[in-house]
Amino acid sequence: MRIVLLGAPGSGKGTQAQRLQAKYGVPQVSSGDLLRDAVARQTELGMKARAAMEAGQLVSDEIVLGLIRERLGRPDAQNGFILDGFPRNSDQATALARLLEEIGQPLETVLLMDVRTKTLIERMAGRRVCRSCGAVHNVTSLPAPNAPCTKCGGELYQRPDDKEEVIAKRLDVYQSQTKPLIEHYQKLGQLKVIKGEGTLDLITARMEAALAKPQVKAEPKPAPVKKAASEKKPTARPAASSPVAQPVQAAASKVAKIPAKKAAKKTARKKAVVKAARKKVARKAAKKAIKKVLKKIKKSAKPAARKVVKKPVKKVVHKAVKKAARKKIGKKAARKK
Ligand code: AP5
Ligand code: MG
Repeated sequence: MRIVLLGAPGSGKGTQAQRLQAKYGVPQVSSGDLLRDAVARQTELGMKARAAMEAGQLVSDEIVLGLIRERLGRPDAQNGFILDGFPRNSDQATALARLLEEIGQPLETVLLMDVRTKTLIERMAGRRVCRSCGAVHNVTSLPAPNAPCTKCGGELYQRPDDKEEVIAKRLDVYQSQTKPLIEHYQKLGQLKVIKGEGTLDLITARMEAALAKPQVKAEPKPAPVKKAASEKKPTARPAASSPVAQPVQAAASKVAKIPAKKAAKKTARKKAVVKAARKKVARKAAKKAIKKVLKKIKKSAKPAARKVVKKPVKKVVHKAVKKAARKKIGKKAARKK
């Protein structure tokens, strides 16, 4: 298994990566953990990375790529890996593709953890990490706010970059630098989106299901073929020049002005507007026909009979005439065609 976990800070990449590594027997390779380790050991690299990390900024590509290259070269990563938090921008994505090609381990899937911003903030603000075993907890699920690690009893601490002011910066950096990778991997046909909210088990199950499904490569959609006029089905719609068709066309032209970004909704709306316009036309025609019929009846009926005839006829005729008017519109259109 060779996958990347993509997602905003706090989306659960680390938590889920640990679960997946236990199930699939491939290591979690977290750029954040590698950097935190370098900082804790006060290596030269760590000293360089520290300021950027504490400010919520990205550490230089050169440093991170060096760490990832070294980590993927270790024996436990020869049968696959779960990359967590890397790549983080388009240059890193390009560098990763090159590196994986070099080592003959091409990427299979990118799982995007989709989580609302409000939840991300709550998760990061409540995260506590164990100093001894590195387990990640959250105050919301600990027995008490200052409880020790539920796995090893070690002391829990808050990551310096989980302070409120840094959280905002990290979310900004994600939006501007990491989010574009979604489109990048979508185009490559490697992206699968996972709803990242719910219980840990539920999310793990979603990820496992997504990984079990064969990857469907995104292929460019063929341009829609325009049907020749002769191929089109004959319809009973009003002809373009018909006065009946004019309100329909006017309504349709309004729809045509809808901005391109609403293209997805356009067709549905267009249909609705055209349908409404057609209904209006039919109603008008029916009213006109009713008036005509009533006039005829009035003329032909004897003065005494008029009162009796007027009301019931209006009711009975209404439906029939409406139907007839609709038919008439249809016939007219068909004749024109
Ligand atoms: P990094 O450590 O990668 O942090 P991140 O991407 O900001 O993500 P987090 O680790 O904060 O969140 P996560 O998605 O792993 O969520 P977690 O599982 O912990 O990076 C830190 C810094 O290092 C960066 O800011 C940058 O400076 C630098 N860096 C790292 N990689 C870099 C790169 N490639 N290039 C340049 N710089 C880089 O969960 C969060 C919390 O939510 C936990 O408390 C957890 O218990 C809880 N939680 C998780 N899932 C659930 C759930 N389903 N329900 C309830 N709670 C949950
Ligand atoms: Mg993490």
